[in-house]
Amino acid sequence: MKYALNTKGLIDCSADCLVVAIPESGTWPASADTADKQEDGLLRRVVKQGDFSGKLGSTMLLPLNGKPWSRILMVGAGKLDSITVQQFRKIAIAALGRLKDAGSKHALLTLAELPVKDRDEAWRVAFLARACEESLYRFTEFKSEKTPARALKQITLDVSAADASLEQALQTGQSVGHGMNLARDLGNTPGNVCTPRWLAKHAKDLAKEFDCVETEILDEKQMKALGMNTLLSVSAGSAEPARLIVMQYKGGKAKDKPHVLVGKGITFDTGGISLKPGEAMDEMKFDMCGAASVLGAMRAIAELKPKINVVGVIASAENMPGSAATRPGDIIKTMSGQTVEILNTDAEGRLVLCDALTYVERFKPATVVDIATLTGACIIALGHHAAGLLSNDDNLAKALLEAGERTGDRAWQLPLWDEYQSQLDSNFADIQNIGGRPAGTITAACYLSRFTKDYTWAHLDIAGVAWLSGKEKGATGRPVPLLMDYLLSHAG
Ligand code: BES
Ligand code: MN
Ligand code: ZN
Repeated sequence: MKYALNTKGLIDCSADCLVVAIPESGTWPASADTADKQEDGLLRRVVKQGDFSGKLGSTMLLPLNGKPWSRILMVGAGKLDSITVQQFRKIAIAALGRLKDAGSKHALLTLAELPVKDRDEAWRVAFLARACEESLYRFTEFKSEKTPARALKQITLDVSAADASLEQALQTGQSVGHGMNLARDLGNTPGNVCTPRWLAKHAKDLAKEFDCVETEILDEKQMKALGMNTLLSVSAGSAEPARLIVMQYKGGKAKDKPHVLVGKGITFDTGGISLKPGEAMDEMKFDMCGAASVLGAMRAIAELKPKINVVGVIASAENMPGSAATRPGDIIKTMSGQTVEILNTDAEGRLVLCDALTYVERFKPATVVDIATLTGACIIALGHHAAGLLSNDDNLAKALLEAGERTGDRAWQLPLWDEYQSQLDSNFADIQNIGGRPAGTITAACYLSRFTKDYTWAHLDIAGVAWLSGKEKGATGRPVPLLMDYLLSHAG
């Protein structure tokens, strides 16, 4: 999609569709007023006759004579005086949802003038560009019938004045959207195609496309030599070999310590010998969404080229119950030297992550954030609106929570108190890989914390936010917006 900013009058823009927000009550936004005057009171008549109420997220497309617009799309803005980030998203998604399969080739959006609570115009521009990318996403790779190309080729955002910070915001929003959509493509791809080697190929391709990214892939032999035994214990039952994917972006000074992202990349999670029940097991193809968010963020970083250093690491394996699979009760030595009693092979995410978290010590990181669809318990605790956040550093936790608030890609902090650690005590090894039913998300993070003592670290449990189930089943691209906001906040 092509994007532009419009600072001329609405009528002087060559768009064939004008998109205006109509509130349920109170004063209309300036653009809606202008459009109404231009069309001799048509918009107010539509409202007055009871055909459009302005209810949040409702839409109405008015066909016109082409002078100056072939159509006006009215979008309900609800109660204009208190628009939250989530409501703004709903308005934008509704507008694009109506537009994407209509006949318009070039739409002029006036939604950046809406008064979103505590957000400035640059934020609104970035958010709209991102929301457009999100709405226009489709995943048709595996449909036999070819999907027809869309008419819509350009989106112009009407803004108050030409300004370099708005141009930058437009670019940022687009790139974050691209990163989200890449993460969704990877997440939606089924486990028979999306394997550790296939993810590695995507990381290699990213380095080919962008000179500023370097990718290195470690195979099982190289991981064995490093002592990454718990990671390898997960792929032991699968015919698909594991991969450790390391992507480096160097946009800062050589001495600037990198921000490291570590993603869980289980390309399919059957549970292993501790086999999962059959119902909805297909959704375990999404168990690499942490990895997908790392790849998505790396792509967005490569597009935007901020002055920071970022390392993206993906620990990827398939968790299958083959004859060489790890047994419950097996004791394995991690790369850190600590031994783990694997009581449940379905708690495999922490097993691949712990070795990756030890591996990243070599980068002398400024911060490390791991992203993982780690526990079903996180869905019970927080549902589908917030990611679980746990950290060994309150400043890092605060920075990530704020990034979530700013982008509407929210997280919520859970405690990482010492009192929970004893749930991981093992009779036979240094640690066991499960902590029982109470506080499953916290004890999973406690397990990881045993491997992150030497640096500033946070863990995002994205089991509830990375994908939707039911009719809208699919990957969401979260938490790419949170990660990008966090990373860019270090770019000055
Ligand atoms: N990938 C799952 C977590 C998960 C489950 C995410 C359901 C989304 C929906 C993870 O590998 C897992 O199986 N975790 C277990 C841990 C338990 C055995 C301690 C879980 O949550 O049941
Ligand atoms: Mn599992
Ligand atoms: Zn898993």
